[in-house]
Amino acid sequence: MKWSTPEAASPLPAKGGEAGGSKPAVRAWTGRAPMDRRSRIRGVRCLAAAACLLAGLAWAATSLWQRLEQDGIHDPKNPAIALLQQPAEALAPLPRDTAGNMVRWVAALESGAINPRTNILPETEVRVRDDDIIVAKYGSLPAVKFPHRPHTLWLDCSNCHEHLFKSKAGANRLSMMAILNGEQCGVCHGAVAFPLTECNRCHSVPNASLLRAAPPPR
Ligand code: HEC
Ligand code: HEC
Ligand code: HEC
Repeated sequence: MKWSTPEAASPLPAKGGEAGGSKPAVRAWTGRAPMDRRSRIRGVRCLAAAACLLAGLAWAATSLWQRLEQDGIHDPKNPAIALLQQPAEALAPLPRDTAGNMVRWVAALESGAINPRTNILPETEVRVRDDDIIVAKYGSLPAVKFPHRPHTLWLDCSNCHEHLFKSKAGANRLSMMAILNGEQCGVCHGAVAFPLTECNRCHSVPNASLLRAAPPPR
């Protein structure tokens, strides 16, 4: 007997190989709307898309953060779990990010949404440094801007200097490979700070603007 596969039941043509299989399928799908019915179908699609978006947003707000009993860390059978605050309850009111743990922590701090204690011991000196360093100027991507201020709002100088970075602009050989390996910026980004998928949050300065200010050395 022949089992009917999901492919057989689908209106889409069966996928080809691993690569390239999805493209013809998509073309066949969009090709199903004849020209004269196009605008009506587009209207219906718009409505459906809007409904899906709204439903999606409502669903997303509650599912951005895993419930404690599902996180694989807490014991779901422990009755005391009910005493703990769920991440969604604590984090949903804070400025929203699109990645990582979905909170824009620097904005949360700067806007006063959170107000963490800066020091436990009164003698601890809180040091904030407010300068930006463009760490590489003429790569294939927009240049990387390292801002001291947001870092020193969260961290002490000694978290980075001198063991991670020499405190001299240009003195460190920063590389994306090392960062992806969890070194340099990657010690924190992708671990406790926003993830490395957010390229443009580090690669944030268009090269053209730097070239205009000062052409590259020959
Ligand atoms: C936490 C900050 C950070 C993030 C996020 C980040 N990079 Fe980088 N990237 C750097 C630093 C620092 C360097 C080294 C300086 C340089 O060479 O530009 C670098 C260098 C590079 C380089 C080589 C230099 C160049 O411009 O040609 C490439 C390519 C690159 N990154 C691609 C990416 C891509 C793609 C992503 C996102 C998937 C990404 N980076 C995310 C910090 C970051
Ligand atoms: C999150 C890590 C981090 C923290 C925290 C940090 N820095 Fe830096 N610092 C850097 C990086 C990265 C550079 C750029 C190095 C380069 O260009 O190679 C830098 C550069 C410097 C420079 C050189 C500036 C220049 O223009 O030459 C000084 C001075 C410095 N830091 C002092 C401090 C002081 C003081 C603090 C604490 C108030 C601090 N840093 C906190 C990462 C950090
Ligand atoms: C010792 C830990 C640490 C290191 C090393 C580190 N960062 Fe960060 N970075 C943080 C934390 C913590 C934040 C704030 C939380 C967040 O935005 O996720 C942050 C935030 C940022 C921001 C966002 C500021 C904003 O306004 O949202 C940028 C850009 C950034 N880091 C770039 C870099 C680059 C480039 C490097 C490497 C040269 C680097 N960081 C190294 C911990 C670090």
